[in-house]
Amino acid sequence: MLPSLRSPAVGRDPYPLYRTLRTSYPLVHDEAFGAWLISRYEDVRAALADPRLVAPPPKSTLTHLTHLEDRAHAAHRALLSPALRGRALAALRAGVERAAFVLARRLSGRQEADLVAEFCHWLPAVAAVTALGLPHEETARVREWCRDGLTHLGAGHGDLDAFLRPYVARRRARPGRDLLSVLCTARADGRPLPDETVVGTAGTLLGAGGEATHLALASFLANLLDHPAQLRLVRERPALMPAAWAESLRRDPAVHIVLRRALVPVVTGAGTIPAGAAVACLLGSAGRDPARFAAPDRYDILRPAPGQLAFGAGRHRCLGVQLARLTAECALHALLEALPRLRRAPGGRPADEGLITRGPKTLPVLLG
Ligand code: HEM
Repeated sequence: MLPSLRSPAVGRDPYPLYRTLRTSYPLVHDEAFGAWLISRYEDVRAALADPRLVAPPPKSTLTHLTHLEDRAHAAHRALLSPALRGRALAALRAGVERAAFVLARRLSGRQEADLVAEFCHWLPAVAAVTALGLPHEETARVREWCRDGLTHLGAGHGDLDAFLRPYVARRRARPGRDLLSVLCTARADGRPLPDETVVGTAGTLLGAGGEATHLALASFLANLLDHPAQLRLVRERPALMPAAWAESLRRDPAVHIVLRRALVPVVTGAGTIPAGAAVACLLGSAGRDPARFAAPDRYDILRPAPGQLAFGAGRHRCLGVQLARLTAECALHALLEALPRLRRAPGGRPADEGLITRGPKTLPVLLG
C-alpha cells in the first residue's frame, strides 16, 4: 500500500515516495493527508497555473495574498510588487549586506558553529525588519515569526496581530517609505486596505518569506559545503552564485507542498480531480523529476538552465524571489569573506525536517 505523506518514514525521506508517485500514481488521493497528490514536473506546473485550482481559504481572519484570487488578488499583488523590486530592492540590499557581515564576523575567531541557529535564522529576520521599517530592536522577536513561519501563520495570528497593529496605526498617521507604509497608504477600489489585510500581508513577509528563506538558505549552504569543489568554483567565479542558488532550490526546495482546491472537476494529464477536492502540488517531487532534469538527485551548479518550481508558478508565483536571492548572495559572500576556513563538521549531513516546508534544522561547521 502507498504510504501517506504523513507517515514518519516519508517525513524522514520523502523522495522514495515521490519517485513511486511520479512513476505509478501521478494523481492519487492521500487519505491521511486529505488531498490529491500531483507529483510530475509538468503536471505540477500546469496545476499551479490552472485558474480552476484556487488557493485554499485562510485559517484565520487575516487575509493575505496567497489566499486571494481574481481581481482582489491582482490588485494586492500590484500594490506589493513594486516594493520588492527595482529601486526599493536596491535600497534593501544595503541593510541585508550589512547584517550578513555583522552575523558572519560574530562567528570569526570561533572554532565551530551551527549556521542554522546562528546565521540562517537571523538574516531573513533582519531583511524583513528592514523591509517593513520596524525598529532593529525588534529583530529578535521578529526572528521567532520568521523561524516558525507557515506553521505559526496557519495556527492563528494573535500575537503577530497585536505586535503589528500599533506600527500600522503609526504608519497610517505618518507614512514613511518602507513596505508597511506602502501597504498602509495603498488604496484598493478607492478605499484604504483594512488593517487585517495590512497585517496579514506583513505577516506573509515575516512568516512565509522569512521561514522559506531561512530553510532555503540552510539547504544552499549545506549543498555547497557538501560539494567543496563546487564551492571553490563559486568562490573563484561569483557570477555562478545565482545558478548555485537556483540549483539548490530545485534539488532541496524550502516549500515542498503548495495547496489548492478544485472549483470544478478538473481533467488533467494524470486523471480527474473532483470538484471541491483539496490538491497538493508536490514541488519537492517536481524538482527531482527525471523527465525534466537529468540525474535529478545530483547537486550540479553547472546544470544548464535548471528552471524550477520552487517559487511556484502562474498567478501566485512568489513575489520575494529577488529578495530571497539577494539575501542568499549577501549571506554567502559575507560567510566566505569573514570565514575563509569554513567547512563541514565531521558527522554527515543532518537530516532535513518538515512536511509542507522542509530544510536542515542544524548545520554544524568548523571555522578554525
Ligand atoms: C527562498 C525563499 C522563498 C521561497 C522558496 C518561497 C516560495 C514561495 C512559493 C512556493 C509561493 C507560491 C505559493 C502558492 O502558489 O500558493 C510563494 C508565494 C509568495 N511569496 Fe514566497 N518564497 C520565498 C521567499 C519569499 C520572500 C522573502 C517574500 C517576501 C518578501 C515572499 C513573499 C511571497 C508572497 C507575497 C507570496 C504570495 C504571492 C501570491 O499569492 O500572489 N516569499 N513563495
